[in-house]
Amino acid sequence: MKITIFGMGYVGVVSGACLLHDNHDIIGVDPVEAKVADLAQGRSPIQEPQVAELLAAGRRAGRLTATTNPADGLPGSDMVWVCVGTPSDPDSGINLNAVETVVGQIGRLLRTSPDRPLIVLRSTSLPGTTAERVIPLLEKESGLTVGDDIHVVFHPEFLREGCAVGDFFEPPKIVVGEATPGAGDTLVKVYESYEAPVFRLGLGEAEMVKYCDNLFHALKITFANEAGALAKAAELDARQVAAVFCADTKLNISPRYLRPGSPFGGSCLTKDLRAILRQASLKSVRVPMLERVLESNDRQITTLVQRICAHQPRSVGLVGLAFKPETDDMRESPYVKVAKALIGEGIELRIYDPTVEPQRLIGSNRKQVQAALRHLEDLLVGSIEGLSGMDVIVVNHRTVDADQVDRWLAAGSIVLDTVGIEGVDRHASGYEGLYW
Ligand SMILES: NC(=O)c1ccc[n+]([C@@H]2O[C@H](COP(=O)([O-])OP(=O)(O)OC[C@H]3O[C@@H](n4cnc5c(N)ncnc54)[C@H](O)[C@@H]3O)[C@@H](O)[C@H]2O)c1
Repeated sequence: MKITIFGMGYVGVVSGACLLHDNHDIIGVDPVEAKVADLAQGRSPIQEPQVAELLAAGRRAGRLTATTNPADGLPGSDMVWVCVGTPSDPDSGINLNAVETVVGQIGRLLRTSPDRPLIVLRSTSLPGTTAERVIPLLEKESGLTVGDDIHVVFHPEFLREGCAVGDFFEPPKIVVGEATPGAGDTLVKVYESYEAPVFRLGLGEAEMVKYCDNLFHALKITFANEAGALAKAAELDARQVAAVFCADTKLNISPRYLRPGSPFGGSCLTKDLRAILRQASLKSVRVPMLERVLESNDRQITTLVQRICAHQPRSVGLVGLAFKPETDDMRESPYVKVAKALIGEGIELRIYDPTVEPQRLIGSNRKQVQAALRHLEDLLVGSIEGLSGMDVIVVNHRTVDADQVDRWLAAGSIVLDTVGIEGVDRHASGYEGLYW
């Protein structure tokens, strides 16, 4: 394929070098003359292992050209990859000047050209950017309609500098956000021989995947360092602790606890966070990220209450009161807090939790729940039918199925689902997920 790359920085050059290796023809477009001069000689304008060799080989094969003139880059191209920078603005926002300049140039060139290359955005951009900024600009400047005359995809890059070539050829995943279904067909062909899983999704979701990755990586490093600081303050071998922590691929380094939805609760997480923060404070160790975790979790509980109250219900049914199903442990359960807040709002409350039997509760479990919900016996219903007719039904536990949710919806209740019951039509009238 003939692929034009706008922006020959780290991402553009590495992509170009690797695509040359895959036998594509590459035209690099960049306003910096020194970069273009290097590329035109088959030299790399960046320092990155293997890139120089790949570019030189591509140049020798006559498949690499470079130009400062966008008009020279476009003719005959199957795809245009936009790899320009999206640096921080002084207000911390993202600077889209280079993306908009390039998209404007491409649009104006397409207005007078028969070429209809696939437009591939690679520059990291906030969710909504491609749909709300890039596509309208492209349509305005080209006079074309995206989806009919020309196609656009957002295709985030996951390479790491220093091992970027290896990351390009063996990516953890290939993500293609499509403006319209099938828009990414041409792009996906590039990766036919790659082993990585290909995910085709909406533009915004693809943009968000890139941020999720970087947020999580930042979070992981900060977590490791804060945990290290706590271990060091206790005169422990932080690396040994980290190694054992990472060896647990069932609960720690795994998809566990990474589904958006319910807040956390239970007898351990909250208590243990509090205890370690107290110890850190006594030892003057600052762990700002961990210090904010409980606040963030409380925010989730408040959000859930607000989402319920936004419907101005007279009555609410809760499915699940314990912090998770199959246990009657209600210590630090977020749903006890939700129940208490709803009662405080004067809302009639009914709770279905088959594992909770008030007469069998003992010790601190009994004490805590009684302090929050004095008349628990009166709130609990013995069967799921007991929630019928409630204005809003909040599903906290996966103890009901899609048929039950459908029956509630058909009867006119609003169902707010924090766990994502399988099989429910997410667009059904009256059905809301917490984060979907
Ligand atoms: N560097 C990374 O490791 C990495 C990894 C993944 C994603 N990203 C994202 O990819 C994008 C590019 O990052 P980068 O590190 O390659 O940036 P970079 O600053 O190294 O390169 C950007 C290039 O775009 C060129 N450019 C600017 N205006 C132009 C225009 N009008 N026409 C053509 N070229 C133009 C610049 O001269 C420069 O060569 C960013 O959005 C970044 O967040 C970077």
